[in-house]
Amino acid sequence: MQLLAISGSLRAHSSNTALVHAVARVLPDGVTFRIFGGLALLPAYNPDLDVDPALPPVAEWRAEITGADAVLISSPEYAHGIPGVLKNALDWTVASGEFVNKPVAIVNASAHSQFVLDQLRETLTVLSARVVVAEALPLTFRPADASELLADDAASTVLRAAVASLVDSATPD
Ligand SMILES: Cc1cc2nc3c(=O)[nH]c(=O)nc-3n(C[C@H](O)[C@H](O)[C@H](O)COP(=O)(O)O)c2cc1C
Repeated sequence: MQLLAISGSLRAHSSNTALVHAVARVLPDGVTFRIFGGLALLPAYNPDLDVDPALPPVAEWRAEITGADAVLISSPEYAHGIPGVLKNALDWTVASGEFVNKPVAIVNASAHSQFVLDQLRETLTVLSARVVVAEALPLTFRPADASELLADDAASTVLRAAVASLVDSATPD
């Protein structure tokens, strides 16, 4: 089983990127893991650029989703919404449909955010993804790396449960 993880933050010391790296440490056996790091390389979505064959960064993004059995997205909230780079990436899949039936877990590293999880759920649902988890980790600090995050028992428990649900939903009966 192949799991693709995406951080919605481009910040060098992002807590959401730390969360994505923590996922790699809590995976069950048999799950291979990739991080998509190309959000900033995608052009601003423009239907006039949504051509066949796709522009190379767009083709790479779409191929990463297609090749994954499940996707985990960890994103901060910006201005009560989805960070522009992440929403832009999702917009590039509207017409091409890579998220159709794809199991997706949405998490974030901030218990303070109020809107981003629901907005991601809404957008991914309209893309026909199967959102299996949408949950903020109960962190009271901003973790600098995966080790710091996993040392927090409450956050680690929520993350392990989210990953287990995602893997379970992507595993054939
Ligand atoms: C431009 C900007 C807008 C933000 N807007 C919100 C917001 O609306 N609600 C919120 O809870 N936090 C907001 N934040 C705080 C971030 O969500 C928070 O710092 C988060 O931990 C950053 O994630 P990162 O560590 O992965 O970069 C904002 C931060 C920035 C830089």
